[in-house]
Amino acid sequence: MSNQAQKLAEIVSSQNAGKNAKTKFIAITSGKGGVGKTTISANLGWLLAQKGYQVGLLDADIGLANLDVMLGVKPEKTILNLMRGECGVEDILMQLDKTFYLVPGESGGDILKFGERYALERFYDEIKKLDFLDYLVVDTGAGIGDSVQTFLNAADETLIIATPDPAAITDAYAMLKVLSDAPRRLLMIINQTQSDREGEQVYEKIAKVAAKNLPNVDLKLLGTLPRDNDVTRSVRGRYLFSKEIANSRSTARLSEILGSLLRLMERGMLEAKEGSGFRGFFKRLLDQF
Ligand SMILES: Nc1ncnc2c1ncn2[C@@H]1O[C@H](COP(=O)(O)OP(=O)(O)OP(=O)(O)O)[C@@H](O)[C@H]1O
Ligand SMILES: [Mg+2]
Repeated sequence: MSNQAQKLAEIVSSQNAGKNAKTKFIAITSGKGGVGKTTISANLGWLLAQKGYQVGLLDADIGLANLDVMLGVKPEKTILNLMRGECGVEDILMQLDKTFYLVPGESGGDILKFGERYALERFYDEIKKLDFLDYLVVDTGAGIGDSVQTFLNAADETLIIATPDPAAITDAYAMLKVLSDAPRRLLMIINQTQSDREGEQVYEKIAKVAAKNLPNVDLKLLGTLPRDNDVTRSVRGRYLFSKEIANSRSTARLSEILGSLLRLMERGMLEAKEGSGFRGFFKRLLDQF
């Protein structure tokens, strides 16, 4: 076992796995690709970790700029190796900072397909070791495919990212529609706006159609994020703007968004999903597929 794996083994074993399964699962998705899911997942996760929470990021997307690329790390093993029983949680978990971790994934579809093929009791026991995390932020990838939906159904909270681009608006609405079978809360962030007003107008447009046609959907705007060169540069440079550019307006704005999210989630604690913790999350996930 490498030093890093040894250290992680100590962290996970010291946390009384499964005893206090309190992890909240936040899924980040969009209708259209390239709207900022991975950027927002990574930076929101970082800001959450700065509040003293233990935060994991799960990559369930194989977009162009994966979470690992954006975070400047190279995972050797992923959650699929864990599902196959080839390694332990400490071999895949990557510690990025004191309370900030990456759980390297694969495309959501691959994760779910493996769930079908393998006996997973050992995996469920192993993944419980991640119950020390307070939050898991899941970058689900874009689109209204089955695999993305499955992740969204298993999560405690779903954030949908859209932009003022007309295609992104249409696709965000299509996403709301496929998620509207049962009553649920969906939270939106409008990214890459020219002005706050523009962001609010885009949201109002979507919300108006949703209110009329999708009575099951309780839609809320978490906030808007400006189109900002600090963000573009950070993605190109593989660093987190929220970490390296503390005084950027995007950092301030994302912190406000995080504040709203935490307030909403605290209020929503009453309706906890059946089966808590990582075991519960993955069982919900894999049983549906
Ligand atoms: N607020 C912003 N201001 C400027 N550029 C942004 C902003 N948000 C995202 N971008 C840029 O948009 C591009 C796509 O971002 P990102 O990779 O996070 O999107 P995604 O939704 O994860 O894409 P995919 O669907 O391919 O996974 C990146 O190059 C990023 O720099
Ligand atoms: Mg992405």
